[in-house]
Order: sequence, then C-alpha cells, then structure tokens
Amino acid sequence: MNQYLSTVFSILNGIRTLAITCAGWGDSGKGKFVDLFARWASLIIRCTGGPNAGHTIVVDGKTYILHQLPSGILYDAEGKLNVIGSGVAFDPTEATKELAMLALEGILCRNLRISYRAPLLLPQHIALDLLKEMESTSRIGTTGRGIGPCYTDRVARRGLTVNDLLNKDIFVRKLRRNLAEYERIFGSADPEVVAQVMRHERLLGGRYAAAKGRTFDPDAILEQYLQYAEGFREFICDTDELVRESIHQGQRVLLEGAQGLLLSIEYGTYPFVTSSECSPRGLAMGAGISERAIDLNLGVVKFYDTRVGKGPFPSEIGGSQSEAWCNSGKVLQADEARDYGTASVNDPDPFTQGIALRLKAGEYGATTKRPRRIGWRDLVMLRHALRILGPDIIVTKPDVLSGVERVKTCGSYRYIGPCYRIGGKTLEPGAHLTDCPPDSDVLSACEPVYREYDGWQEPIGDIREFMELPTNLRKVLRHMETATNARLRLVSVGPSREQTVVAS
Ligand code: IMP
Repeated sequence: MNQYLSTVFSILNGIRTLAITCAGWGDSGKGKFVDLFARWASLIIRCTGGPNAGHTIVVDGKTYILHQLPSGILYDAEGKLNVIGSGVAFDPTEATKELAMLALEGILCRNLRISYRAPLLLPQHIALDLLKEMESTSRIGTTGRGIGPCYTDRVARRGLTVNDLLNKDIFVRKLRRNLAEYERIFGSADPEVVAQVMRHERLLGGRYAAAKGRTFDPDAILEQYLQYAEGFREFICDTDELVRESIHQGQRVLLEGAQGLLLSIEYGTYPFVTSSECSPRGLAMGAGISERAIDLNLGVVKFYDTRVGKGPFPSEIGGSQSEAWCNSGKVLQADEARDYGTASVNDPDPFTQGIALRLKAGEYGATTKRPRRIGWRDLVMLRHALRILGPDIIVTKPDVLSGVERVKTCGSYRYIGPCYRIGGKTLEPGAHLTDCPPDSDVLSACEPVYREYDGWQEPIGDIREFMELPTNLRKVLRHMETATNARLRLVSVGPSREQTVVAS
C-alpha cells in the first residue's frame, strides 16, 4: 500500500468493525470507499437491500457495476471473505449474471458466502413490483427489481429463504403457498398489463408465465431455481456465525451499506423509500451482530444532493419541472448531452443549470440509467440523517462544483401548505421549519431557505492536503459540520482512491 493511502487509513486506527452508509437518498459515492476500505478489511459483508443497489467501482481504470454481490468481491483472489448477509434480498438470477461477468474478467469468486437465512427473491416479486409501477396510483418510482414484494413476503411470513433452495420438497411446498397470494393479486389486474409484465426481460422474456388460467408457472420457476441451487450450494452457510466469529477473532470487518438513510423504511421520506433499513442498526441486523459491535460508522454525504424516483426533494434545482423531466422515463444521458451539452453550470434558469450540473457530474442511475434529480445540499435532511447515523462523515464530489459561481446550502424550510397538525401543534402556512416534518406531503410543501456562498473556480482533483482546498470550499464544509453536528473525516475530490483528502 502506498504512503498516501496509509494516511487515509490512519482514520481507522483502533477500529476493527467499520460500517459505511449513505446519509442521503443513495448514490453518494459509497462504492469508492467500500472499495478503498475493502483493502483494509478481511471480511466484507452486504447487509441490506438487494439488486436495487448499483455500486460503481473503478479499479485500474476498469469500471465494474455490481448490484447484488458485495463490492469487496474484486479482492477475492487475496483471500478476503465476501458475504451476502441475512438481511439481503438475494436474487439468484442477478447474482449468476454478475458471477459470469466477473469470470470473464478472470475474477473467480471462491470466497463468496451467502446467508442461508437471506430472503429469496423470486420472479413473482419482480412481476408485482413492475405491475405496481405500471398502475399510476401506486407509483414510487422503484428500480423494478422486486425488492418491496420480497421484503413484504418476509414480514407477512410467507417468504422463502436461500436455504429453501437446497430442499426441493420444502421449496415446492412454500413456493406453491406463496404463489397462491400472487395469483389472487394478478387475477384481478388488467390481463393486458399482466401479459406485458410477464414478458419482461427481467422475467426472462416470459419463461415463468403459465400457459392459461393462471399467471405463474410453478414448474418453470422450480426448474430454473433448482439450477441456481446447484450453482450456489457451496456458498450457502450460516453467515451470522461467520461474521460473529471473525469479530471475535479480532479480524477487520467491513459492513457495506446500500441505498441511504433517507430511503430507509424507518427513517426515510416514507412512503418514497426502499423496503429495508439502511442505517447502521439495519446493517447490524442484516449481518447478525449487535449494533454495539460496530466501532465506527462513516456516513457518506454528497456535497450536493441527488434523488432517483419519486418523492419530496425541497432543494431540487429546477423544482417540479426537474422532477417531471427526470421521472418521465423518456430522458437518457445521451438526450441531455445532445440537447444541453453546451449549457452552463451557471445558467440563470435553474432547470437548465440542474441539467448542466447533472451532465458534468455524470449523475445517471447505475441500475436504471435514469437521470438523477439534482439539488443543493439540504442540511435539514442531513441533520436528520446524522442523528441516526452518528457524526462521522465523508464528503464526496465537491470537485463537480468547481466553476460554479454561487454555491448554496439549504438550512431550513418555509412551509407553504395548508394547516397541518403535528402532535399537539399546528403547522401554519408560512411557518419556518428547521426539522424534517414526519409526512412526505408536508415535506413536498416546503420551500428551501438557502445560504449562498461564493464558489471556487479551480479544479481540485489534485489536492491532497485539506488546507490546500479552496478557502470558499472549506467555508461551506465547516458550515456543513456546524449546522449538522457532523465530524468531517475525509473529502473525496475525484473518483480514484488517491483523490482523497484527510480532513483536519
Ligand atoms: P426499490 O428499492 O426498488 O423498491 O425503490 C424504492 C425507492 O428507492 C425508489 O425511489 C428508488 O429509486 C430508490 N432506490 C432504491 N435503490 C436505490 C439506490 O441504490 N440508489 C438510489 N435510489 C435507490
């Protein structure tokens, strides 16, 4: 390891179990740090979420996008254990695809372990997720990977686990019982929409569709999943015990977060959230350990904000126009590059400025390719997130804002909706809010109150000393810390590992 990275790793002195989470709506740049700290760890575990995640890792100039496998899998040859924990929705179709993709690159995953308790993601989960997204009344803007239905089955006590793959009779019995529920739901849906859903590529182009009378063919699911069982048999075990034992032996363990606190089922902007718990508490549960076993959580915070899918986003640059544009499902990066390629990051029209920033930052979904909605850093939301995550943060991507003349942070909101009761109090129109309200409709009726700063012109990607960062950038970082009670540990000034500055 080079001298410089040793300096970065010095923030982990005395730490054995490290968690990395995101303090926003996902896509904060966790992947770079999971990859960086995977070099430090001997066991890396994904604890929550499923193939809805899109972790982009750049190693030796090559970009890998992983949805299901832990990001540390790229270090398999070094003997590091990579674990899919018992809180992860495990989709064997996606995992098979990723293992094949890595094998083509010469990366063999000998040290992968999959929890026998992990919820098993099945075709009916993907089908229901897609169906709900097509029914305009229930749209959340999900990734369509079946996450919500898979976790719903777990809570409703009708789900299957990874270990069921290894016991054919039990698998068949549970699958049939589970499908009965889905047949009921799909039986009352529009048959044309159902047919369209069942032909979706993620459902292998119709492989699981029943010939007639029913929607799903259990035999087709069984056949495919028995094949998966063969492929994964050797990896399936009690990973909770494995992780506890590693911690007991004093090994370095890295808990890799997925999504972000503001998408968490407990603390996020409900109902526009994912269906797992993205906090360190959720990670601990998904790894089979106590939260107290985590020595340090590093919350990754993007210097500006982004959000994918529907849901309130008070500091969105371009407001509802941006939301409608990004969620139209019709706009891709190439379209924006063609039509707005020359737009300025200082454009006086916020909608255009937002697109220019998105293009500059490359803010397009790793999983869905959707344009990410982009906004100024919301400190109300960050304060809320850090109450759960703890104070230690890594700030990413300030380099994107080099050249922006006026930089903003949102420190509070002005409420413009109708009177609303919160407990014993009434929120009146025009009220000033410094805390995140408990309802997404109320949050949607909040206007940002901004603090503005002079920006900085120079690129910062080559800077390695905190005090050499532009003064104006340091001012914003310091304000971010004081306004949210954060403790800044690292600043990322570019995508590569070395482009990391230790805060002082
Ligand atoms: P689901 O997790 O697919 O059910 O989607 C629920 C919400 O979480 C949607 O708004 C998604 O866009 C969002 N979401 C899920 N995973 C990610 C992620 O990895 N990054 C950003 N947003 C995500």
